[in-house]
Amino acid sequence: MYKIVLVSELKILLSREQIARRVAEMGQQISSDFAGQSIIFVGVLKGAAIFLSDLARQIPLDATFDFIGVSSYGNRPTPAEDPAGHAAWDSSGEVKLTKDVDQSMTGRNVILVEDILDTGLTLSYIQKLLMAHQPKTLRIAALLDKPSRRKIPIHAHYIGFPIPDAYVVGYGLDYAERYRNLPDICVIQNP
Ligand code: IMP
Ligand code: MG
Repeated sequence: MYKIVLVSELKILLSREQIARRVAEMGQQISSDFAGQSIIFVGVLKGAAIFLSDLARQIPLDATFDFIGVSSYGNRPTPAEDPAGHAAWDSSGEVKLTKDVDQSMTGRNVILVEDILDTGLTLSYIQKLLMAHQPKTLRIAALLDKPSRRKIPIHAHYIGFPIPDAYVVGYGLDYAERYRNLPDICVIQNP
């Protein structure tokens, strides 16, 4: 047993049961869209790791995994440094690649797997980068979507849950690297 610090200040937004049901539905959709074909799942580190591992196990097709890492340049504050909690949690607009994919995506069916689509800066950067590989198809699967925060017009083909503008943690999502291991998705009450 272990104790999670500050857990009393977290309110469940999406329970593990809700998440599991929706991830299974997304898996069925992807399985039927790509029936008889192979897939490369490309997870965005680190937040998408848990979603990718659950989603991929709902898809009984020939598949491989890859991971890509990005971070933002410059003055993007971490939530912990940001006294407003979420309000100032905006990207500087410049995204930097910290880990490239390991395999060629050329001619392949690529599903880019991300925890949350927020301003859209991260995914549009990665989308451009992967399009340069000339994949056969490139689709985005995002577990969460905050459409009200969008700065760049980008949409995910597969979305788990649209959510309001709140800072969420759990199921891979972090607050200053913590809480990724929470099984439920929670809103931080008093950041
Ligand atoms: P975007 O580039 O603004 O779309 O940001 C996407 C990235 O910001 C995600 O991959 C997350 O790492 C992070 N992010 C955005 N909103 C949240 C949140 O509510 N909780 C945790 N991380 C978030
Ligand atoms: Mg992320």
